Amino acid sequence: MDFKLTEEQLAVRDAARDFAQNVLKPGVIERDREQRFPKEEIKELGELGFLGMMVDPKYGGGGMDAVSYVLAMEEISKVDASASVVMSVNNSLVCWGLEEFGTEEQKQKYLVPLAGGEVIGAFCLSEPEAGSDATSQRTTAIDMGDYYLLNGTKNWITNGGSASTYLVIAQTDADKGHRGINCLIVEKGMEGFVVGAKEDKLGIRGSDTHTLMFQDVKVPKENRIGEDGFGFKFAMKTLSGGRIGIASQALGIASGAYELALAYSKERSAFGKVISKHQAIAFKLADMATEIEAARMLCLKAATLKDQGKDYALASSMAKLFSSKVAMEQTVEAVQIHGGYGFVKEYHVERMMRDAKITQIYEGTSEVQKMVISRTLLKD
Ligand code: CAA
Repeated sequence: MDFKLTEEQLAVRDAARDFAQNVLKPGVIERDREQRFPKEEIKELGELGFLGMMVDPKYGGGGMDAVSYVLAMEEISKVDASASVVMSVNNSLVCWGLEEFGTEEQKQKYLVPLAGGEVIGAFCLSEPEAGSDATSQRTTAIDMGDYYLLNGTKNWITNGGSASTYLVIAQTDADKGHRGINCLIVEKGMEGFVVGAKEDKLGIRGSDTHTLMFQDVKVPKENRIGEDGFGFKFAMKTLSGGRIGIASQALGIASGAYELALAYSKERSAFGKVISKHQAIAFKLADMATEIEAARMLCLKAATLKDQGKDYALASSMAKLFSSKVAMEQTVEAVQIHGGYGFVKEYHVERMMRDAKITQIYEGTSEVQKMVISRTLLKD
């Protein structure tokens, strides 16, 4: 076991920290209030190579490891979780799946611009009646010979309005259950593809989350990822890596809130001394720092297993389950330490508390992570 980060990994972390502090922080409160997508900031993030971090440089990516990805996700999420979900979805749910399972033509056409940050992608699995129960897809992709006819509705799609490339999961043959599901690459602008309403959300309000409608969209056969019927397994494998991204996002939200609470506790005085010198606050800080460090270790362990080519599905579910719990609990504590100031927008921690909640819901709720973990533990 080696806890030492390499020079390259530290450089990636520092670059992400600089970007977060200098570019994302100045407008983060306004973007949250106005529900404004960080368009220019995401463009810059792409130019710096953070949108296709782990993609092979021959496809325009950064060729970095998953540990570097966790470090960068933590730094970006400390400041702006709306920007970091865009980064997480593009890296882990879109680029990874295309690189791992796409054809050479699909990689040249779709992965190269996604990895270089010229365009962004979306991953479309959830439906009005298929959230946790992801096999019960109502969206259909009927095999018409040389194309699929796509019909249905997808809900809560991150990057729904701003993406150009969409990976859409749909049922081709209901009799085959999950083995009858496919994943199709759909382009914005294909006839019959309509981007619906933008959601008005509790948190990550700077990200754009939309309903998408597909009405008789003709998707060429060559846009299917993998063999016929591979779509559900594609989604599950992709989400195993996605959960490392969201676990790191949760870690960043927690550590960002902790750092603010720590600094505030050393400035604010009550009863004749700074509040960090009161045991009630000092013990809160001790709990926060310990839990955040444990979450960081779980995220880095999952990433290390991925880098080593080992099975990381269990580790990524554990990391997401724990980090998201830590994010929710510790952002509440950060607000508490700030007292009345924590309840107003200027001090950032109330936004972090709102942002934390989604990490217990998307890319598999905490209950779904417990299903994945317990099934693995109980497997014969
Ligand atoms: N890797 C590879 N294969 C996997 C797998 C994995 N991690 N997990 C499951 N599978 C395979 C199983 O082996 C099985 O295949 P076989 O029948 O051939 O053995 C098949 O997939 C079906 O698996 P299950 O029987 O376990 O399926 P299930 O119906 O019981 O559901 C579940 C399992 C874990 C609950 C799954 O449905 C799930 O993960 N649900 C949550 C979906 C989710 O995360 N949605 C998030 C939406 S995306 C999002 O939020 C993105 C965003 O915008 C931020």
